[in-house]
Amino acid sequence: MTYANRRGSIHLEDAEILEHVAHPDNQFVLRVAAPATARTAAPGMFAHLQCAPSIRLRRPLSIMRTDASGWVEFLYKPVGHGLTALSQRRVGERISLLGPIGNGFTITPDKPKVLAIGGGVGIPPMIFAAQTLKQAKEFDVTVLIGSEIAFPFALASCRLDSPGIATAAKRSLELLNEWHIPSHLASKAAIQGCHDGYVTDLATNHLHALTGQELGLTRILACGPEPMLAATAKLAQRFDVECQLALEEFMACGVGGCAGCTVEVVMPEGVAMKRVCVDGPVFPAESIYPNA
Ligand SMILES: Cc1cc2nc3c(=O)[nH]c(=O)nc-3n(C[C@H](O)[C@H](O)[C@H](O)COP(=O)(O)OP(=O)(O)OC[C@H]3O[C@@H](n4cnc5c(N)ncnc54)[C@H](O)[C@@H]3O)c2cc1C
Ligand code: FES
Repeated sequence: MTYANRRGSIHLEDAEILEHVAHPDNQFVLRVAAPATARTAAPGMFAHLQCAPSIRLRRPLSIMRTDASGWVEFLYKPVGHGLTALSQRRVGERISLLGPIGNGFTITPDKPKVLAIGGGVGIPPMIFAAQTLKQAKEFDVTVLIGSEIAFPFALASCRLDSPGIATAAKRSLELLNEWHIPSHLASKAAIQGCHDGYVTDLATNHLHALTGQELGLTRILACGPEPMLAATAKLAQRFDVECQLALEEFMACGVGGCAGCTVEVVMPEGVAMKRVCVDGPVFPAESIYPNA
């Protein structure tokens, strides 16, 4: 199966909050009823949420999971007043949601080995990629996750190995264990069972352990802070592995109208200005970091 996710209709939904769970270090998992978005979302896409009626500018959040019953789930960490206001909304309240937006990851069977790398608030698209691929037998998915604060997920012992991952990374996400997808965690915050370092260290070790043929069959998907994306692009170039990055630029309209999210990208035809919201948020790594 091919997951070549291109922009379709964006739905406006009056989404009821079904669950809203606070996690340590000011992180929140929000589940809302948004059936049209749940039906058409794909990994790498996001939704634009109105945090409170008094806050005009919506905030973009990556879609972390969807369910056939019609819910969509997000993980967020407030940095300013918008998401702080969202964090105060209660179960049963409704929020205006535009989604799904953007071009997600393109995942095709010619690269059946998928290495998903997520850091911080860039973790959600990797969970969604894992959820989407969990039943596709032709894909062999490994998820690597880094965080410098508590992981807002249930952790468990690794039950599935991945080539090259040191035994120091002994913990994984219970959810991904249930999906039979290996996951490994990294943190410099001395979290027990995690690799003591960056998530890209784990990725380096993993890529080192693959044969040349396996590298040719591998595709990296990544989302996270800018230094992590830059290091991932460099790694992809070093091992000559295809790599797609999901960007998290600041946005205003979120639907292509204001050019507030424009980034410079290097395309085969030359340098171009692209809007992260509708031309992205996923771009080829070499178009963002041509000199990685
Ligand atoms: C596609 C996409 C997906 C994302 N997914 C997630 C996710 O899953 N989880 C998550 O937690 N975050 C995610 N983000 C990031 C999140 O949307 C932003 O961090 C958001 O602005 C935070 O809102 P806030 O109200 O907490 O902070 P804001 O009030 O937006 O302010 C955050 C900080 O940025 C500054 N700032 C605000 N706007 C601008 C601007 N235009 N230019 C420069 N500085 C500015 C403010 O001064 C403040 O210091 C995503 C972003 C994008 C684009
Ligand atoms: S946020 Fe307006 S064009 Fe992207």
